[in-house]
Amino acid sequence: MKGVLICGGMGTRLRPLTDITNKSLLPVYDKPLVLYPLQVLLDAGIKDIAVITGPEHMTQITQFLGDGSKYGGTFAYKVQEKPGGIAQALALAEEFAEGSRICAMLGDNVFFDDLSPMIKEFKKGARVFLKEVPDPERFGVAELDKDGKMVLSLEEKPKAPKSNLAVTGCYLYDERCFAMIRKLKPSPRGELEITDLSALYLEEKSLTASVLKDEWIDAGTFESLFRAAELVRERK
Ligand code: DAU
Repeated sequence: MKGVLICGGMGTRLRPLTDITNKSLLPVYDKPLVLYPLQVLLDAGIKDIAVITGPEHMTQITQFLGDGSKYGGTFAYKVQEKPGGIAQALALAEEFAEGSRICAMLGDNVFFDDLSPMIKEFKKGARVFLKEVPDPERFGVAELDKDGKMVLSLEEKPKAPKSNLAVTGCYLYDERCFAMIRKLKPSPRGELEITDLSALYLEEKSLTASVLKDEWIDAGTFESLFRAAELVRERK
């Protein structure tokens, strides 16, 4: 399995912090944000990682992460010219993937569960990781069946969420994901949505989900970025 670390986008909700700094380089207590999702990949034994970011931040990101050798990995870099969605960012890793399965991680997600056993056992289809949250309308939302195993529906930032289970920023896809991204149409906000990619797997009943037990943070707002730092400090 190969990893894709998705660190593009505008960081609009964190301005002026993101005026000249990529969101994923902002501090979370004692480390830049990106090192937390990167560690999830490394802990799962994934060493071959493509890092995707926009042209304005490529220099910063490559200067910070380097060729991967200081993390025991090998990093490749791909530029996303414009933020056309997370699925569009993932599509840039097709050549890099060379037909392997993919663990796509969003560069602004901090996980406190150990995801490595679930990442290592993944074989085919797609898998998402869910977390109960008080404000599901901020996220992709999954509805599960009564046994809590099968995903029944997926919606991106619904106004009336069918559950309080947010789809977190760690996605496992088999090698077909790139062909499936080609089938996607831009959403009303003009992006190729990662939720729509997972929904294609849902349609063919090959999407599975795990519900996380520990804390999870999408550090894309001032409050959540601050909370991530607090939690990391508490857990030291
Ligand atoms: O954090 C989990 C959530 O992430 C999911 O629940 C949502 O379904 C998913 O759409 C996403 O929502 P966000 O609104 O948090 O996405 P955001 O725009 O913050 O982008 C997440 C990361 O992906 C961020 O590090 C920037 C990067 N990104 C985003 C876009 C739109 C790119 O690299 N390229 C892009 O075009």
